[in-house]
Amino acid sequence: MGVGVVGIVGCAGIPTYNAAIQQKNLRLDGTEIEAALLERGAIRIRAPGASADIVLMRGADGELSALSMTCSHLGCQVRPGGDFLVCPCHGSTFDRRGAVVRGPAQKPLQTYEVHRLDGYVIVSVADI
Ligand code: FES
Repeated sequence: MGVGVVGIVGCAGIPTYNAAIQQKNLRLDGTEIEAALLERGAIRIRAPGASADIVLMRGADGELSALSMTCSHLGCQVRPGGDFLVCPCHGSTFDRRGAVVRGPAQKPLQTYEVHRLDGYVIVSVADI
């Protein structure tokens, strides 16, 4: 498994990382990612071939969560704001575990397993 982070591209809002899917995982440099998460609270990950961007968030307890940025209502792209993700289209709001806290969305955001390993942050995207 090689290094997954290809680079950071400019983006209004949150930093965006381009990453390659390798063996159904995104492997991100832990030091770089943790620093970005501490500073901004969330980052966007784009992977060629993936059906959706992923937002990686860090809670106050240090726990990481990885979620699809595609709103479960009608598919707009949600935006992180604090501990929540808000859809600009119709206002659905999700917590950082993907649960709906405000509709009209009825279903949670898709989530991905994320863990730290040997200095990397690994996001499992087997079903992306
Ligand atoms: S598409 Fe997100 S609330 Fe409608």
